[in-house]
Amino acid sequence: MAFICPEEIEAYAEEHSSELHPILEELVEFTYKNTDLPQMMVGRAEGNFLKMLVEISGAKRVLEIGTFTGFSALMMAQGLPEDGKLTTIEVNPEYAQMAKSFIERAPWGKKIEVIVGDARKVLEEFKKESFDFIFIDADKSSYPYYYEKCLELLKKGRLMAIDNALWEGKVLEPDDNRSKAIARMNEMIKEDPRVEKVLLTVRDGIFLVRKI
Ligand SMILES: C[S@@+](CC[C@H](N)C(=O)[O-])C[C@H]1O[C@@H](n2cnc3c(N)ncnc32)[C@H](O)[C@@H]1O
Repeated sequence: MAFICPEEIEAYAEEHSSELHPILEELVEFTYKNTDLPQMMVGRAEGNFLKMLVEISGAKRVLEIGTFTGFSALMMAQGLPEDGKLTTIEVNPEYAQMAKSFIERAPWGKKIEVIVGDARKVLEEFKKESFDFIFIDADKSSYPYYYEKCLELLKKGRLMAIDNALWEGKVLEPDDNRSKAIARMNEMIKEDPRVEKVLLTVRDGIFLVRKI
């Protein structure tokens, strides 16, 4: 995956961000050894950024779409208070199982609930749920749908972060389904009067959206 910053600057940013808990170090090593796409993890810098956002916003209920092996879920849950809860949705049962094996061992893992299923279906079943912080990081072709649905589920004044919003810069000239879907979502957000927004050039682009 190519990021917005040159590789050596990305590496410098990672090295200068807070160290990972030993369980997360282990998870990263495991993910590199046992999965084909370890670069799907948000990494140390973005992981710490998400954790900080959860912490400083005082979020108690967090929703994540796209668990993979649990890296970002475990990072964000570290920013939650003792009685906080993070729900994460993963369609691939093998990834979900890998995530659960680390979550069960993390001292703060009890704050995390993993739902195995297609997020598009799971989200439709959320009738009374509302969240203080939402992180979207799953199938890119569903991004316009996830944005709309998650905005409904987000409490007023609260934040949503959407990963890969720059998609290696392909949003400038989108020519495949995923790039086109992300670019469409970015336009939706740009024109949406219901939110304040900032598109950050962190890693692969993070769209930070606050519901007003
Ligand atoms: C980029 S990875 C998530 C990385 C994770 N946030 C992290 O930092 O470790 C995207 C994940 O979304 C999952 N996914 C794809 N389509 C999905 C869907 N429709 N519902 C739920 N999860 C989905 C994939 O299986 C994959 O594990």
